[in-house]
Amino acid sequence: IFKQTFKYYKQKATQPSFDDVIDFKNARNLDSVIVKQVPSPSNDLIGELGLKYKENWEIYELKKVPGLFIIPNSFTDKGRRMWANKCVTEYFKKPHETNVDPFDDNPDKMWESSYSLSLLKCCPIWKLRWATLGYHHNWNSKQYSEQPCSELPSELRKTSKLFASMIGTDDFKAEASIVNYYHVGNALSPHDDTSELYLEAPLVSLSFGLSAVFLIGGTSKDQKPEALFIRSGDVIIMSGASRLAYHAVPRILKPTSDAQLKSSSVADNLDLFMSHSRLNINIRQVHS
Ligand code: OGA
Ligand code: MN
Repeated sequence: IFKQTFKYYKQKATQPSFDDVIDFKNARNLDSVIVKQVPSPSNDLIGELGLKYKENWEIYELKKVPGLFIIPNSFTDKGRRMWANKCVTEYFKKPHETNVDPFDDNPDKMWESSYSLSLLKCCPIWKLRWATLGYHHNWNSKQYSEQPCSELPSELRKTSKLFASMIGTDDFKAEASIVNYYHVGNALSPHDDTSELYLEAPLVSLSFGLSAVFLIGGTSKDQKPEALFIRSGDVIIMSGASRLAYHAVPRILKPTSDAQLKSSSVADNLDLFMSHSRLNINIRQVHS
């Protein structure tokens, strides 16, 4: 059943209907979520991490997937740029690991000089699919390295601890992070994240750039998943039962014509990249 829903949203021949997709921006299907308010973090932290100033933070939990929280639209424009910039200029550099190791010799070549989308698509940066920070996750053995391959950047530690505390986890240890780089047409197949040796801790996930459809079901692939839009600046937390649930990203949404227009008039590689890409940074505790 999960696979069927995945294929439905992934299809390229025709655009799927998004009528059933939970959408925080357009307040669609919000009867399927519970809302809770939590006090705002300190102003220092808000500024440092590029978060929005708000009196209270609203966090949403999916009724059908207990433990799955969404904190929509959490970052300022400037904050989103800061995070995106880190993903495309820092997080792929050694000693972090990536899928494009041959380019690690010359990380500054990642961008070349690309001031058009077609040139950008020829750059090594366009081939980046993932980077791993902290404990390195081996995709084949599905095991974490015994020793961390790099230090987890402090902004990742602070942000994940902050969001974990919003759902009541005050002792979250940020030990590993996977950064996923997506373009239109890419997808992430149904999977569960159970390589961590300690599965009681939540997993914190930040998304920037293009919107995506996210599916989350239960611990069996026979359970029909819920679909929701994840947009730039949204935070997802998988905790409790949902921490072990099957999930997937079947579809990256095309840039709106508005965003395309904007990016055609900017001479800025980061804007150009971000208007055609989605970045997902997820942070995990590996050990108890
Ligand atoms: C993952 C994952 C989801 C996303 O990296 O394990 O589920 O939103 N990513 O990209
Ligand atoms: Mn996952």
